[in-house]
Amino acid sequence: MSLKNNKIITIDGPSASGKGSLAKALAKELNFILLDSGLLYRAYSFCFDHSQNHSLAADLFSNLNIKSIDHEMHVFKNEKDITSILRNEDVAKSASELSSLKETRENLISFQRDLASDHGLVADGRDMGTVVFPDAGTKIFLVADVEVRAKRRFLELQNAGQEVNMRDLIDDIRLRDEADKDREISPLMPADDSIELNSSNLTPQEVLKIVLKIYKEKTKEV
Ligand code: C5P
Repeated sequence: MSLKNNKIITIDGPSASGKGSLAKALAKELNFILLDSGLLYRAYSFCFDHSQNHSLAADLFSNLNIKSIDHEMHVFKNEKDITSILRNEDVAKSASELSSLKETRENLISFQRDLASDHGLVADGRDMGTVVFPDAGTKIFLVADVEVRAKRRFLELQNAGQEVNMRDLIDDIRLRDEADKDREISPLMPADDSIELNSSNLTPQEVLKIVLKIYKEKTKEV
């Protein structure tokens, strides 16, 4: 059996299952770096929209400045913070479409792996525990009912000043879940050694407490 890296925690799961807030809270609590891989897929799709070509998109992507501010990933293009633009639903849709392509995933994998260091990493996404960091010491697969997830996303987008319709949101989330699960490359699925957690009836604080306990137990094992 390969050696597990206790400095990596992976959080995978469908859209709006609470991965983002959990990953941020964990990174803060443990003083680890946060990898928001969904944001990278969104940034790549932003680059692809401007180029319609994978090699140009990879070039544009490498010119973005991606940095961590208060345990959150931010993307800058020519000094301008474009993170909130990347969070809108149109970008999510094109990121979801592009994420099924081999070229897209290949162009992003080394950037993600390079973030692993002695400093510790919390990696949030769909294939963190299965493909990107198979040696991670703690792997969580976070799920929640689709209505609960749509409500969370609705509030998030509303707070960001974006107009959304709850029915459309539920449909979009369902479609993206299916696309993520059914794609051939790096589909959304739990790693064999992951622990599944349903956050539907839990507060973010309760989820954090459970995951910290799991992490501490896992780190004791070695
Ligand atoms: O998590 P987020 O909604 O920001 O991700 C945007 C899209 O990027 C997802 O719908 C998913 O298709 C894709 N994605 C992926 N693999 C990851 C993270 C995100 O395919 N590790």
